Amino acid sequence: MSEIVETPRPKRALSCIQPTGTPTIGNYFGALRNWVAMQEEMDCFFAVADLHAITVRQDPAKLRQQIREMFALLLAIGLDPEKNVIFVQSQVPTHAELSWLLACNTQFGELSRMTQFKDKSQKHADNVNAGLFTYPVLMAADILLYQPDYVPVGADQKQHVELTRDIAERFNSVYGNTFTVPEPYIMKKGAKVRSLQDPTKKMSKSDENQNAFISLKDDKDTILRKCKRAVTDSEACVCYREGKDGVNNLMELYSAVTGQSFEEIERAFEGKGYGDFKMAVGEAVAAELAPVQERFAMYLQDKAQLEALMKQGAEHAYAVSSRTLYKAKKKMGFVMV
Ligand code: AMP
Ligand code: TRP
Repeated sequence: MSEIVETPRPKRALSCIQPTGTPTIGNYFGALRNWVAMQEEMDCFFAVADLHAITVRQDPAKLRQQIREMFALLLAIGLDPEKNVIFVQSQVPTHAELSWLLACNTQFGELSRMTQFKDKSQKHADNVNAGLFTYPVLMAADILLYQPDYVPVGADQKQHVELTRDIAERFNSVYGNTFTVPEPYIMKKGAKVRSLQDPTKKMSKSDENQNAFISLKDDKDTILRKCKRAVTDSEACVCYREGKDGVNNLMELYSAVTGQSFEEIERAFEGKGYGDFKMAVGEAVAAELAPVQERFAMYLQDKAQLEALMKQGAEHAYAVSSRTLYKAKKKMGFVMV
């Protein structure tokens, strides 16, 4: 007798990135490169979270350019628009609509406890707008609309995913099962890249010191120069050890690019100075970024193709998300015609 084997639905993942500033190699090795690996294993949805970006005042022309650039970058790093749903959040109206429904099911106290709100309202004390406060609700809508199993995020976003779970569980228990309760997926392989100027801090695109970070748009000369200027120590030993934060950071970066272990790197650079090692790191990073940068320029230059791909992504995202929105509205008592 033949056995009926049920093939389980492939796991689904969703993540979004804000189109603010040019991402650094920290974003790339810490997050984006893992997205590329993930598309082989799961059904993936990736979005440019432009509605989130306006919680901080944006210049319209600059925002428009940054949305295009971030979308182009997602394609350039190797996310396949035929295999994944890649879209721009503001082009899919279900996000804002579900966000209101969820806002009425989220407590003021819960949102007040979000550490990102506390940090950002201090940093932008002149513009503590309601959107900054309700931002996690919009993020919950982004997620729950697509019924994902996993939400890959950095540690800083974990609290928001936990809140999303609470909102989903509460909604399901009040109105009946509507949303998949997702798990945060903190990436194991993601390297943590630190500032080249202060290796006790994480590399950040908002650093005032341009030499502290390598942006994905930096050309080879710039990358080599920034690596050359990276802070190290006076020991002149390429080895991974406590207290050698600068060298450790460069070794982690080199390892992330080449796949070599620390022991292999130590052996390869035995007896060599930091100058040689820094050049090797710079060369390796530049070589890894070169094809990404080439594709990035290509996508950006063909505006019609870029917008056609946005439209394709938005339509697909709308088709999936409107089913969830319909279900949620119906359960809440709205008249669906
Ligand atoms: P952000 O640019 O801070 O909004 O972060 C976007 C994503 O990139 C998050 O998943 C972060 O955890 C990740 N990320 C940002 N900076 C770094 C870094 N220096 N090293 C590793 N991952 C990072
Ligand atoms: N808030 C996230 C960040 O700043 C971006 C984001 C928006 C997001 N919506 C999301 C991440 C949904 C994961 C899932 O990095």
